[in-house]
Amino acid sequence: MRDCVTSAGTLGSVYGNDFGTPQEGDQRPRESGDPAAFTQLLADDCRIEPRDDMPEAYRKTLVRQIAQHAHSEIIGMQPEANWISRAPSLRRKAILMAKVQDEAGHGLYLYAAAETLGADRADLLDQLHSGRQKYSSIFNYPTLTWADVGAIGWLVDGAAIVNQVPLCRCSYGPYARAMVRVCKEESFHQRQGFEILHTLSHGTAAQKAMAQDAVNRYWWPSLMMFGPPDDDSPNSAQSMAWGIKRFSNDALRQRFVDMTVPQAEALGLTLPDPEIVWNDERGHYDFGEVDFTELFEVIKGNGPCNAQRMAHRREAHEDGAWVREAASAYAAKQAESGVGAA
Ligand code: 3HC
Repeated sequence: MRDCVTSAGTLGSVYGNDFGTPQEGDQRPRESGDPAAFTQLLADDCRIEPRDDMPEAYRKTLVRQIAQHAHSEIIGMQPEANWISRAPSLRRKAILMAKVQDEAGHGLYLYAAAETLGADRADLLDQLHSGRQKYSSIFNYPTLTWADVGAIGWLVDGAAIVNQVPLCRCSYGPYARAMVRVCKEESFHQRQGFEILHTLSHGTAAQKAMAQDAVNRYWWPSLMMFGPPDDDSPNSAQSMAWGIKRFSNDALRQRFVDMTVPQAEALGLTLPDPEIVWNDERGHYDFGEVDFTELFEVIKGNGPCNAQRMAHRREAHEDGAWVREAASAYAAKQAESGVGAA
């Protein structure tokens, strides 16, 4: 994947954030206003930038996926924030606070990336709050014990990394660049989860049992994060043809299983699937069938915590109205006085 520069030049200054800035790469000029240019850019494995002509369906697909991704990041703050005040030590509390703040930051990078496509952030949030846009199924499961924080870091952030590293090569430049930063931070998150579970697993019998119980509850929902199976995934074929998705849902799910089985062994914990076995012929682990009925139910709003998550999100949004008003008033004042115009 290369970054090609349009005749309009580089775009970072236009968007005032990192996500609009093409990195070093192919510097060939390209004409705007030419519908064939989009196809050619994809064929050349170049990135599409915000000012390039793009089919409306490509733009819409990106807004849908990036918005869902952004919503997942901010809703994903809730299950872990639930444990900040009950973390077992000051060190754990500081780490968890930093992690939850990182997730808010990921949401901001992603909303900024969606804005480069002409989406309006307030409108995207309205769509989330009214249930017209989705967020990841995984955040509708409860965090019952401290070990769940470890399981989320290890499994949920681990799955997120497997899903998102290929997105660093997504055909849309601002999304791909946002993902580079997100993935670096997710790696830290995954390690902190692994470390929590490692400590518990090598602690008392009760602590080990708590770690095992958390893994038992989070394993299958983590596999569901990759989406429906390939033959039941309406968006995959087109998204892959456009270079938005680089691998199919099932391919990434398999990669996650392959990566996680040896890590579970290192932790001294088991994965709750008796069908996991190395398959020499395939060069992969076989694993049991995922219950996709559960995934579709959770997506529909019938998961254990959907109502709670949405109620909390709406309340937080309403509580934050005065901050948004103050920030807008401040920005208007700055603009009036010419500060920051440069
Ligand atoms: N949860 C909720 N909705 C899901 C889902 C899931 N686990 N998996 C699929 N869906 C939705 C899709 O969004 C799509 O919705 P639509 O009605 O708007 O079309 C529908 O189910 C059909 O699925 P498809 O496979 O056809 O959809 P996609 O091609 O978009 O693939 C995806 C789904 C793999 C999740 C893809 O959108 C993707 O890679 N998204 C970016 C990553 C992302 O959003 N991750 C969410 C987790 S974020 C996170 O983990 C934060 C970290 O801090 C832990």
